[in-house]
Amino acid sequence: MKFEVALPYSMATTTFTYFFFSFTVLFSFFSFLLFLFRMKACCNCHTCRTYLTFSWTSHFNNLCDWYTHLLRNSPTGTIHVHALANTITANPDNVHHILKTRFHNYPKGKPFSAILGDLLGQGIFNVDGHAWMFQRKMASLELGSVAIRSYALDIVTREIQSRLLPILAANDAVLDLQDILRRFSFDNICNFSFGLDPGCLHPSLPVSPLAQAFDQASRLSAERAMMASPLIWKVKRLLNVGSEKKLKEAIRVVNDLAEGLIKQRREMGYSTRKDLLSRFMSSISDNDAYLRDIVVSFLLAGRDTVAAALTGFFWLLSRNGRVQSRIREELDRFMGPDEEIASFHQLREMHYLNAAVYESMRLYPPVQFDSKFAAEDDVLPDGTFIRKGTRVTYHPYAMGRMERIWGPDCLEFRPERWLQDGVFLPECPFKYPVFQAGPRVCLGKELALVEMKSVVAALVRRFDIRVVGSNSEPRFVPGLTATVRGGMPVRVSERRR
Ligand code: HEM
Ligand SMILES: *[C@@H]1O[C@H](CO)[C@@H](O)[C@H](O)[C@H]1NC(C)=O
Repeated sequence: MKFEVALPYSMATTTFTYFFFSFTVLFSFFSFLLFLFRMKACCNCHTCRTYLTFSWTSHFNNLCDWYTHLLRNSPTGTIHVHALANTITANPDNVHHILKTRFHNYPKGKPFSAILGDLLGQGIFNVDGHAWMFQRKMASLELGSVAIRSYALDIVTREIQSRLLPILAANDAVLDLQDILRRFSFDNICNFSFGLDPGCLHPSLPVSPLAQAFDQASRLSAERAMMASPLIWKVKRLLNVGSEKKLKEAIRVVNDLAEGLIKQRREMGYSTRKDLLSRFMSSISDNDAYLRDIVVSFLLAGRDTVAAALTGFFWLLSRNGRVQSRIREELDRFMGPDEEIASFHQLREMHYLNAAVYESMRLYPPVQFDSKFAAEDDVLPDGTFIRKGTRVTYHPYAMGRMERIWGPDCLEFRPERWLQDGVFLPECPFKYPVFQAGPRVCLGKELALVEMKSVVAALVRRFDIRVVGSNSEPRFVPGLTATVRGGMPVRVSERRR
C-alpha cells in the first residue's frame, strides 16, 4: 500500500529532475556557444585573446598590472577591451570629462547595479538619480563638518590606544598586518556609522561572521564583473549553483546581521544619537530594507578602503627607510617625547606625513579602477568614440604609474613630489582620482585621511614594522577594493629610542 502511494510521487520527482537537468545542460551549452560566438565573431584582436585565454598571467601578477602596461603603451592613454565592451582610460582629460563635464552621461548604470545589486541593493554606491541625491545629502551633512572629523578621531584614537597598540606590542611572532588593519577599520566604521562595537580587534582576534560573509559577498560580486558575458552569472543565479549559490548564502548572512544591527539600534533609541544610521533612521524609520542597503554601502565604503590604504602604506614604508626616518623626524618635531597619539591639530601641521599618505595611495589606490556606463553616444576628449551602453572605466592604479602624468620617477615612492618648500600641495583630482572626483567624489575622504595619519603616526613612532618578503610585488585578490593575496606578514618590534 505504502509502496503504491510512494511510486507516483517518486516518478514525478524523477521526471521533474530529468527535465530540470536537461534544461540546465541545454541552457549552459547555449550560453557557452554564445560566449564562443562573442569571442570568435566579434573580436579576435590581441588584447581580447590575451584576456580570454588568461595568457596575460604569464607576464603580469595582476590584471591591473597588465592594463597598466597596455595603457602606458597607448598613445591616448585609453584602451578598449572588446570582449568586455569596456573602454578603460588613464587620461586625466577623459577622467575630467567622465566624472565632471558630462557627469550625467556616465551614471553607474544598469549593468553595474545588476552586478552589485544583490549585495548593495539601493545603497548609495549602487544608485543614480533621486535615490543617490537623497543619500548623498544626508550623508554629507554627517561627514562634511570639521566637528565630525574630530569626533571620528576620538573613536579612532581610542581604538588605537586600547586595541591596536596592545596587540602589536604583545606579539613577537609574525602577524598578518592586513588582517589586523581590516579588523581595526571595521570596528571604527561600525562605531562611527552605528555607534556599535563588533569587537573585531579584541585580543583573541575573534572570527566575525559579518566581516567574513561580507568579504565573500564582495569578492563573488566582483567576480561577476570579470566574466565575458553577464549571461553566465545570470544563468548560474537562476539555477542557484556554484559561485552564485555561495554568493546568495553570504548575502543572507550579511542581511541577517545588518537587520539585527538595525533592530538593536531601534531598541537603544536613535532620536538623540549622532551616528549615521540614527540620522537615516529618523527620516526613513519604516523601511528596514532601505536602511539595510545604506548600512551595507557604508560598511563597504569605510572598512575595506582604509585597511587597503594602510596596508599599501606599510608595504611601501617597509622598503623605504629614508621616508620612515623623515616621518619620524616630523613626528618628533610636533609631538612631545611621551605623547603616543597625535592630536587633530598636530596631524594638520604634519605636511610630510600627509604627503606620504597621498603618495602611498598613488601607487596602491584602494579602489584600483571604477566603472560607469554611457547613457548616450559620446566622444571623449582624446577622440575615443563611446557607444551608448559601453562600460567606461577610469583606472587610478594605472594612472599612478603613468610617466606622462608623474614623470620618469613615477614608480618611486617619493612623498617629496607633493611638497613645495615643505608645504603640501594638492594635485588635480582628475590626475589622482583615488577618491574619485566631481559630484560623486568620496564623502569619507577627510575622515579616511585623518584615520590613516593617526594610525601611521602611532605605529611608526613606537614600532619598527618589517614586512616579511617585501621584495616581491603584491598579488591582489580580485575584488572591489585592493586586498593582498595571503595577507601581509610583518614582524613588529618596539623601537629603542
Ligand atoms: C582611503 C580610503 C578611501 C578611499 C580611497 C575611497 C575612495 C572612494 C571612491 C573611489 C569612491 C567612488 C566609488 C564609486 O562611485 O564607484 C568613493 C565613494 C564613497 N566613499 Fe569613499 N573612500 C575611502 C574611504 C571612505 C570612508 C572612510 C567613508 C565613510 C565613512 C567613505 C564614504 C564614501 C561614500 C559614502 C561614497 C559614495 C559617494 C557617492 O556615490 O556619492 N569613503 N570612495
Ligand atoms: C565609540 O567611540 C567613542 C569615542 O571613543 C566611545 O566613547 C564609545 O564608547 C564607542 N562606542 C562603542 C559602542 O564602542
